[in-house]
Amino acid sequence: MSDVVAVVRGSLEEARAEGLKRIEASTDLASLEEAQIRVLGRKAPLSRARASLRDVGDQDRKELGMLANEVQVAIQSALDRKREAFEAQELEQRWASERVDVTLPGEAPPVGAIHPLTRTIWEIVDVFVGMGYKVYEGPEVELSSYTFDALNTPKEHPSRSPSDTFYIEGKGDAVGLRSHTSPVQIRTLEIEPPPVYGVMPGRCYRRDEEDATHLAGFTQLEGLAVDEGITMGDLKGSLLEFARNVFGRDLDVRLRPSFFPFTEPSAEMDVLCFVCRGEGCRVCRNEGWIEIMGCGMVHPFLLEWVGWDIEKYTGFAFGMGIERVAALAHGVPDIRYFWENDLRILSQFRGPA
Ligand code: PHE
Repeated sequence: MSDVVAVVRGSLEEARAEGLKRIEASTDLASLEEAQIRVLGRKAPLSRARASLRDVGDQDRKELGMLANEVQVAIQSALDRKREAFEAQELEQRWASERVDVTLPGEAPPVGAIHPLTRTIWEIVDVFVGMGYKVYEGPEVELSSYTFDALNTPKEHPSRSPSDTFYIEGKGDAVGLRSHTSPVQIRTLEIEPPPVYGVMPGRCYRRDEEDATHLAGFTQLEGLAVDEGITMGDLKGSLLEFARNVFGRDLDVRLRPSFFPFTEPSAEMDVLCFVCRGEGCRVCRNEGWIEIMGCGMVHPFLLEWVGWDIEKYTGFAFGMGIERVAALAHGVPDIRYFWENDLRILSQFRGPA
């Protein structure tokens, strides 16, 4: 056997051993790809050994050629096996990571709900609509003539002061954010022919220091009934119906003398404490009664302002804070909770609207 034959045979065997080792050492599809180039590429030891077959005599070339093919097949099948193994492994990993348990309960998409203040308004409106009232609305940016003048509010009344009311423009008939919904009484009397039965929900604004019972932006619901022969008895009966629907069927209400420039006489309406029923407890601060709203008989000044016949028509009006009613009805200790948009609070009011 000539030296050349021995050398070529040696380099073929070395190419096989080296090649198989490299393939075995690969750790994933990418490194296997690299190994393939190194063991079967144009500059690989096997290719170089094949090239040197040129220098071998015819007799030996046949035998060495067969050996070269054998090496080639061994390397190729090692590559194939390894690739299959890596591909199977990769598939297994994907199955594991993309596995879905179709028997698990689905993830419910977050469902919104009506805000508790809106629901409180709807609930109260429903009670009054059931008694024949209609719903009216007025602007939140309002003229002083509607917020104060038409409501018989004296020029020196503290609620007119810029330290109480937010003004936007001060000249002439001043423009500001309404501090109550009572101007909607006037706007309704202006557009509707008698009689009028209306509730008027809406936002109001006051320069108040915010605390558990005060907000600079809050919500009121106004009520107004003007017809022939309306008495304070009608006022009390209507408010009793409201209170029993919202706070409890077996409750009672009482009227306490009070003062508002736009009602005469004026009163505060209290509801019997729905927790202690008059015994005195924490909720009613030991009063047995809970103050709910201001009310009274419509002052003739308002009817004259809009040109209604004060000999023929009388009426009553009332105004309540929606945040306060909602807080009492649901045992919420701080009305700021309704405006902080904390879903831990608001989601507790989820339910049929
Ligand atoms: N507007 C009054 C307030 O904001 C409430 C009220 C309305 C009182 C209607 C009497 C009649 O306090």
